[in-house]
Amino acid sequence: MTWDKQLQLSNMTCPNRFPRILESAKKLKPDAKRILSFGCSIGEECFSLADKFPEAEIVGIDISHYSIQRARSNNKYGSRVNFHDYIGATGKYDLVTCLMVLFSLDRPLEFERWDIVLNEIHQHINLDGLLMIFTSEYDFLRAEIANDYEVIRSWTRIHPKNEKEYFCGYYKKNNESYKKRIERREIL
Ligand SMILES: C[S@@+](CC[C@H](N)C(=O)[O-])C[C@H]1O[C@@H](n2cnc3c(N)ncnc32)[C@H](O)[C@@H]1O
Repeated sequence: MTWDKQLQLSNMTCPNRFPRILESAKKLKPDAKRILSFGCSIGEECFSLADKFPEAEIVGIDISHYSIQRARSNNKYGSRVNFHDYIGATGKYDLVTCLMVLFSLDRPLEFERWDIVLNEIHQHINLDGLLMIFTSEYDFLRAEIANDYEVIRSWTRIHPKNEKEYFCGYYKKNNESYKKRIERREIL
């Protein structure tokens, strides 16, 4: 992962930060075997996921090596929870959370940078996998990959710090549209 892909700069997080989103994750993907927290900061989101999905393997990715080192030293779950600073060869996931990552409070965030990062995440989601986005600079439907997903739920929120509207949603990687595109040979 290179720094030109960095989106949100702040690594602010806390234990059990978004219980309702994790509750929805459990309802929508109860049997998730491999779960990715993209932009996991110092690991709290991964630890909450590990509690919620006791059978699953949890991987946390963050562009900040410093955060990853802290996450590793905070990890009390053993080898079931892993941390990396690059999504690279970590495999594919049934559930991906991307919470408070795909936006920037401090500077304008270019569409291309946002789209490249989503493309990268997309390569790591299994068919029928669920992508959960909370607070995104742009509407997911504008992403290059959006055609491969079914919208399960989407909404907007106002961030209290800058009163700007951001996008949120849950999206399922859709077998059917993906298959159709393979048939049309758009995906080889
Ligand atoms: C505000 S924290 C969110 C932490 C956690 N997801 C939460 O909601 O509590 C945002 C994190 O996203 C990370 N981040 C930003 N751009 C990233 C990228 N392209 N790839 C991976 N992590 C990224 C930052 O380093 C930071 O730790």
